[in-house]
Amino acid sequence: MSEEIQKIATCPIHQINPMHPEVLKSPWLMNERLRKEAPVFQDPNSGIFFVSRYEDVVEMAKDYETFSSRMLSSSRPLYSSEDEELLAIMREGYENVPTMLTEDPPLQLRYRKFVNSAFSPKSLNALEPFIEAVSNELIDNFIERGSCEFLDEFGIPLPIRVISSQLGAPEEDIPLFRKWTEAFVGNLSGQLDREGLLNAARDVIEFQKYFVERMDERREKPEEDILSKIVNASIDGEKPLENSESLSMLSQILVAGNETTAASMTEGIWLLTKNPEQYELIKKDPSPEIISNFVEEVLRYSSPSSNMFRRATKDVEMHGIKIPKDSILFARFASANQDGEKFPDPYKFDITRENLKDQVAFGKGVHHCLGAALSRREMNIGFRVIFERLENFRLSEGAPPPEFSANALLHGLTGLQIDFDKKA
Ligand code: HEM
Repeated sequence: MSEEIQKIATCPIHQINPMHPEVLKSPWLMNERLRKEAPVFQDPNSGIFFVSRYEDVVEMAKDYETFSSRMLSSSRPLYSSEDEELLAIMREGYENVPTMLTEDPPLQLRYRKFVNSAFSPKSLNALEPFIEAVSNELIDNFIERGSCEFLDEFGIPLPIRVISSQLGAPEEDIPLFRKWTEAFVGNLSGQLDREGLLNAARDVIEFQKYFVERMDERREKPEEDILSKIVNASIDGEKPLENSESLSMLSQILVAGNETTAASMTEGIWLLTKNPEQYELIKKDPSPEIISNFVEEVLRYSSPSSNMFRRATKDVEMHGIKIPKDSILFARFASANQDGEKFPDPYKFDITRENLKDQVAFGKGVHHCLGAALSRREMNIGFRVIFERLENFRLSEGAPPPEFSANALLHGLTGLQIDFDKKA
């Protein structure tokens, strides 16, 4: 256990530094203390208010009038820079405008309408054979080895392959999607040095140029994909979206969809290696119901979209703490999912929990994840195919112990080297 984490066990609560990289990697002890002693805690360094209990997080997510998702209009922008080189790179591209995740109703709902049909049960049913085929193909690549780097060889490629097919990109462009996702996630991490920020900015501009070209193609010749829906949809006779709006939506779909699903699937496999008795339950009965319960508990336990920003639209008070208008808050979905008041014995990985459906890994209220149903299909089908073909997962001997990355918004393993047996 690192020194910073050990300190948390005993230090006065105000000395906790929630943005310390070690704490971002291992937030559990801090979350436990904050839920008990400071359910609304203002980080003295960033000024952000951390809201950590299940009931409060759900309340906040539902009350979008008081807790706005519109950060960019704040009088205190989240990320600003005076670095001329960085600004020069950014000026080459489109402005980052608020859309779904970063906008409030009614505009937020308007943006969602453009893409909702791509995530309808009918569209997802049509995608199922593709998800299954990609899952099998990925396993074909490593099954004879008896080992794999799961994040790299399954967790990341599965959702990227699915979403890139939906964005109409050819397979040879998939490495670009991966690079761009990493750039967006790096920006969100708050942990990039100057070189990292410059590179991420260049990658974002490359992403914008690529998609502006693809969007022009879809205007000329629409196809059956999300991109065509975004550029050609005109709801209720409204004018079509500007390029900057479409790019904002595309970047959200890319980041929100790839890293999160990859993180949950990878942690799911790790959890099987650590909880053999739970794995036995699946082996005994790998039915769709049991796999679905496993997926929900993996989502609760991993909660990769761990914290999301909100801005107070007026002065509010919670648990006796005054939160002035325009303050930034974190709705802490991961901490909510570990709240023992809601999920007894919260650190036990238990696929037989009765209230699995109450987990809030996909958020709550108007911003409830656009891709929740897609992600659930990817996880349910992906795990089913894995259980059909592989068994007895274990950490590879001599591999470094799995570790989480330091990111204020997304929580996931940096890698997972495993061995397995091929099923007869
Ligand atoms: C395990 C996988 C996933 C997790 C844990 C997750 C988590 C979340 C959460 C917590 C929110 C709510 C954010 C808030 O309240 O501010 C959200 C929203 C969103 N998610 Fe996901 N997500 C996942 C997969 C996906 C996928 C596959 C896509 C798209 C392909 C996606 C696209 C979005 C979008 C666009 C929003 C914004 C919706 C809005 O604000 O109206 N997510 N997600």
